[in-house]
Amino acid sequence: MDHKTLVSHARAAKRFSHSPYSRFRVGAAVLTASGKIYTGCNIENSSYGLTVCAERTALFKAVSEGETSFTAIAIASDETTATPPCGACRQVIMDLAGDIDVILTTRNGKYTTLKTTALLPYPFGGKNLKNLRRTRR
Ligand code: THU
Repeated sequence: MDHKTLVSHARAAKRFSHSPYSRFRVGAAVLTASGKIYTGCNIENSSYGLTVCAERTALFKAVSEGETSFTAIAIASDETTATPPCGACRQVIMDLAGDIDVILTTRNGKYTTLKTTALLPYPFGGKNLKNLRRTRR
């Protein structure tokens, strides 16, 4: 699976964006190690803080279907400049997918690829909870 195909899925996923408050449509597509694609869009809420970004929708859909291994995620908006994932999504990408390719796209079809660790250096992760687990056992 090439990144170009993943990008076109992210772009298509914008179609279902539920963004009546910001009017900022975002689509994401995550690629599993076995070559499957899961898409997601941002889903806003009238209680703004409950909004879920496109990246998390896509990843949560995949994980809830049993997926555990990922290689890339593509993010698309209607902007002419690349839309990077928000801080919360960086944490979720790192936690669930690890150091994968994060593909940031523009409306004009350009894209740049970064690793998760470039977007989120020195991340908090499950390994930081190991001591906690040990003391509770
Ligand atoms: N949003 C995403 O879905 N992904 C991003 O990477 C950036 C922000 C959404 C959240 C909200 O619905 C809208 O874009 C404006 O912040």
